[in-house]
Amino acid sequence: MTSIPPAEKVGAVVPAAGGGERLPGPVAKQFRDLGGAPLLHRTLWRLAEEGRVGCIALVLPASEVASFEPPAGLPVPVLPVAGGSERQYSVVNGLSALPPEVEWVIVHDGARPLLPPGLVEACLAGALETGAAIAALPVSDTVKRAGMGDFIEATVPRGDLWLAQTPQVSRRDLLERSFALAAADGFEGTDEAALLEAMGIRVRLIPGSKFNIKITTPEDLEMAEAYLTHPEAAAPLITGDGTQTSQTAQAQTARAGAPPVIIREDR
Ligand code: C5P
Repeated sequence: MTSIPPAEKVGAVVPAAGGGERLPGPVAKQFRDLGGAPLLHRTLWRLAEEGRVGCIALVLPASEVASFEPPAGLPVPVLPVAGGSERQYSVVNGLSALPPEVEWVIVHDGARPLLPPGLVEACLAGALETGAAIAALPVSDTVKRAGMGDFIEATVPRGDLWLAQTPQVSRRDLLERSFALAAADGFEGTDEAALLEAMGIRVRLIPGSKFNIKITTPEDLEMAEAYLTHPEAAAPLITGDGTQTSQTAQAQTARAGAPPVIIREDR
């Protein structure tokens, strides 16, 4: 294949079934407010708004599946499904919920709501050659390996080190095979690329974004709030009754023309 597949052949899997233990609060991490909208709604909008994805398998804690309602107006169908004990098993569940016509899969963490515009497309394009590509960032800090008692054992050359992000894109058949092999070998990876690598697939690295943070701690949430005013991270917000929030004006100035994130009143 030489061109980016049409949206009806592309499905997203959004793992969002983690416990969120490091971000305690009155509601589950996935539904914490980020600039006036639930964090997970922002993630879904970001995936849906560029027209590259035909459906989204959303992997949730089992207790949330029945009650989940996608944000109003989302232009892509959402298929809620229950997660597993580890991210890998959650992604497997999401993958099996995708309809048969889906040939390409984009896995994107529910906890990364600031997915930058264009990154899904860049990863899809990057995956055409070998069937797999992921967003990642070259390491810019000096890297130390710790030994006994938290003393430095070694300084690790960083020239060829990258930090993996999502989206991670792959051909569906390759991803399914890699999960089957991992299950047979008892192998657990912390991302999809690790499973594909283990199968010998060459996975292309696509430059991601520092804004594309995974929200794990309260500090991450604060950083994400601050990033919202940046063009690469901002998305216009409107409330359920169509009125704009004060952040909307800033965001729209920053990034005109993008579809809105609808703020639901019931969460
Ligand atoms: O905890 P971790 O960094 O692996 O989480 C990455 C993403 O995977 C998060 O969006 C989280 O909700 C999801 N996850 C999941 N099922 C698990 C663990 C994590 O869907 N069992």
